[in-house]
Amino acid sequence: MNKFLTTMMVVLSLPLAAVAQTPAWNELKGELKAALESKGDPVRGEKAFDSCVGCHRKDASGRTSGAYPRLSGQHATVLIKQIADIRAGRRSNPKMEPYLDDHALTAFEIADLAIYVQGLPISSENGKGPGTGVAAGRQIYDRDCASCHGGKGEGNAEKFYPMVAAQHYNYLLRELKFIRDGDRRNANPDMVKAIKPYSTADLEALADYMAQLAPPKK
Ligand code: HEC
Ligand code: HEC
Repeated sequence: MNKFLTTMMVVLSLPLAAVAQTPAWNELKGELKAALESKGDPVRGEKAFDSCVGCHRKDASGRTSGAYPRLSGQHATVLIKQIADIRAGRRSNPKMEPYLDDHALTAFEIADLAIYVQGLPISSENGKGPGTGVAAGRQIYDRDCASCHGGKGEGNAEKFYPMVAAQHYNYLLRELKFIRDGDRRNANPDMVKAIKPYSTADLEALADYMAQLAPPKK
């Protein structure tokens, strides 16, 4: 086993639930709770990830086109919540559903996958935006988004706030529109409120800004 995995297993040997909170939009029950309380085994997770690489790639960097998001380095709590939400139908993802259905994955395997993927290095070769919206995007981001997603886009594992730095531009833009327009139904209501007033041009600027943020140090 390489040094990286060994370190991860030590760092992550606390049950994830120990750090998790219970906001109303994210009620901890059922398999979400079971997966968060499970320790997760990155070695098993690496094997289980075989069924995901066709879309998310072996290094979990996704596609620069934004068709498939980067998963590497994302907080395990966020990965678990998103998978549980997709399985529960709160976030629709028809392409991925067959790979995530109850028969394909148990709650424990979700935890294994999340621990493994969280530990993968983050590529800075992500899909970038046009660059013209970075300055405007930064202004909006610092005012309305940094309180949750962090000054550097690092997110917050304990609160299930995703890391948004160095994610693919087109994916960020698509999710912002889904969240603003109510198509992504699992979002924190405070975030929906924060995003509602923005025009599509504003969302493009925000995505442009977030995509060029450096991968957060872990
Ligand atoms: C057929 C292609 C495909 C396969 C296979 C696939 N995914 Fe996905 N996945 C997607 C797409 C597309 C999205 C983005 C959906 C959207 O835009 O909302 C996604 C999103 C996700 C997200 C949410 C990411 C975020 O930032 O919120 C997670 C977590 C995820 N996938 C995990 C997995 C895991 C784990 C597997 C293997 C068990 C897997 N996926 C297999 C296509 C796939
Ligand atoms: C109150 C906290 C909060 C605020 C404020 C907030 N967000 Fe979020 N954001 C979240 C949470 C929680 C999620 C995950 C939602 C879910 O479970 O689907 C999220 C998801 C996202 C995603 C999707 C990430 C992914 O990997 O799929 C993007 C992009 C995003 N936020 C950008 C923004 C931007 C830009 C702003 C400011 C206009 C903002 N957020 C304001 C909490 C917040």
